[in-house]
Amino acid sequence: MLSEIMAIVRETGKLIRNADISKAAFRQKTSKRDLCSACDIEVQAQLFDRLAKLLPEAQFIGEEQSTRPTVNGGWCFIIDPIDGTANFAHDYRHSCISVALVKDDTPVIGVVYNPYMDELFYAEKGSGAYLNGLPIHVSGLPLSDSIIAFGTSPYDLEYKRDTFALAEKVFDKSLDIRRTGSAALDLCYTACGRVDGFFELILRPWDFAAGSVILTEAGGVITTMDGDPIAQKKDSSICAATPAAHAELLELYKAHKEG
Ligand code: IPD
Ligand code: CA
Ligand code: CA
Repeated sequence: MLSEIMAIVRETGKLIRNADISKAAFRQKTSKRDLCSACDIEVQAQLFDRLAKLLPEAQFIGEEQSTRPTVNGGWCFIIDPIDGTANFAHDYRHSCISVALVKDDTPVIGVVYNPYMDELFYAEKGSGAYLNGLPIHVSGLPLSDSIIAFGTSPYDLEYKRDTFALAEKVFDKSLDIRRTGSAALDLCYTACGRVDGFFELILRPWDFAAGSVILTEAGGVITTMDGDPIAQKKDSSICAATPAAHAELLELYKAHKEG
């Protein structure tokens, strides 16, 4: 199942890599920051179509509106056709496809593909995490030696003040911070040690479902910002990092909320 999903995702990634951004029309969804193009729709449609043939009993949750009904329990694909749509619109070339396969509420497979770099991150529960065939692991660094990525929750401005206040505190305690524009890739970059942690105060299931499997299988820890387990089909805050940095990030957030 994993290798078939990987092949479908890799093939579909060509739609993103070959897209002519100069001709792409972007529609605003909830705000000027929240965009959708014909490419997002086309990628999701192709993934739904091919993955449904692979696992006909599966339900689908996708960012660009699911046409298939979802019920509790059973197999479910959770899909972001383009994570990093603002990057895509600006030809920043740091976006990905994110596909998770969840059984009941447990993620069992995560596949994240950056078509610009031809980098395929993937993991199956209990079998480790990989990047293009090679095993990956979190760095293991504490916060003081870490680079921490964070997301700005750009579609939910009520989180803006806390996000930037926390980012300043994290900056003070770490080596530096990063804002890349793709939460799914931030989780994969944490999984392979390019950064050492990631936080964002609100995300949707398609942003983190696949990355959560990859991060966990790479030895990382992922919870809500309050340290609770993540519910895979609900919006959630996300704190993901090496075990040491994760504990320190939770402490900083707690202190921020109490202070
Ligand atoms: C967004 C990206 C971004 C994160 C936002 C997400 P989209 O996803 O992952 O990095 O900060 O919260 O919504 O809209 O590009 O698929
Ligand atoms: Ca997304
Ligand atoms: Ca998206």
